[in-house]
Amino acid sequence: MPVSEKPLPVVGGSEKRAYVRGMFAAIATRYDFLNHLLSLNSDKRWRRQAVDALGWERMPEGCYLDLCAGTLDLAAELGNRKGFGGTVIGADFVKPMLEFGRGKSAKVEAVTADALDLPFAGERFDGATVGFGVRNLMDLEKGLAEAARVLKTGARLVVLEFTTPHWQPLRALYLFYFRRILPLVGRLVSKHQDAYRYLPESVLAFPEPDRLAGLLVDAGFAEVRYRRLFGGIVAIHVGTRSETA
Ligand SMILES: C[S@@+](CC[C@H](N)C(=O)[O-])C[C@H]1O[C@@H](n2cnc3c(N)ncnc32)[C@H](O)[C@@H]1O
Repeated sequence: MPVSEKPLPVVGGSEKRAYVRGMFAAIATRYDFLNHLLSLNSDKRWRRQAVDALGWERMPEGCYLDLCAGTLDLAAELGNRKGFGGTVIGADFVKPMLEFGRGKSAKVEAVTADALDLPFAGERFDGATVGFGVRNLMDLEKGLAEAARVLKTGARLVVLEFTTPHWQPLRALYLFYFRRILPLVGRLVSKHQDAYRYLPESVLAFPEPDRLAGLLVDAGFAEVRYRRLFGGIVAIHVGTRSETA
């Protein structure tokens, strides 16, 4: 079996955790460039829309958390908003990703931390975001519960994540790009054997938006809603941390 066809640990468990850590550490310096290239710069707009959904204007001096923060683009999108006077903690368990994002916003603080075991007191944050991160967790339910734990009652969690379009002509075209073109370009630019094969495989193995909405409810979020963007290749879920979480 050629190396590039070996099964990847996309579903969960400690093998996935180790793979994800090693892979992001290896591609950290090429991550931003590839994000913009492979999404034709649309990732910037998706992050803007995620921050728009957070409702930070209700508490502009507040303390916010960006989980699985990577190179801090989503954290900086909030930190650099006009009128934002608070702090954004960008938490990720791969230090080279955080280091590469340093300097993107003076209001962002990077913390090396595992989203499944956050080093923060309960009910500390006024809101949280996670961009293209929950799909990479080895235990999705635990990650959502941990996000609920550190949020104040009434605070919002915004989840930005890839999904796949349902409308057949677009789905077929998209899956061709996602499975054939993207892994090839990703491998050439990142020099990583399978990071950009992991991306489509992990998206296809990830719960559909309806199911993710249900998991958010189970984790203690209320008023959960989502919308699909860009023909359905991305979804933004929003939930409000309920009192009983
Ligand atoms: C696809 S990147 C997303 C980065 C960034 N949020 C963005 O919008 O570009 C996924 C990030 O999740 C991080 N990650 C995955 N599992 C994690 C965990 N259990 N704890 C903390 N970070 C994690 C990875 O290290 C990686 O930086």
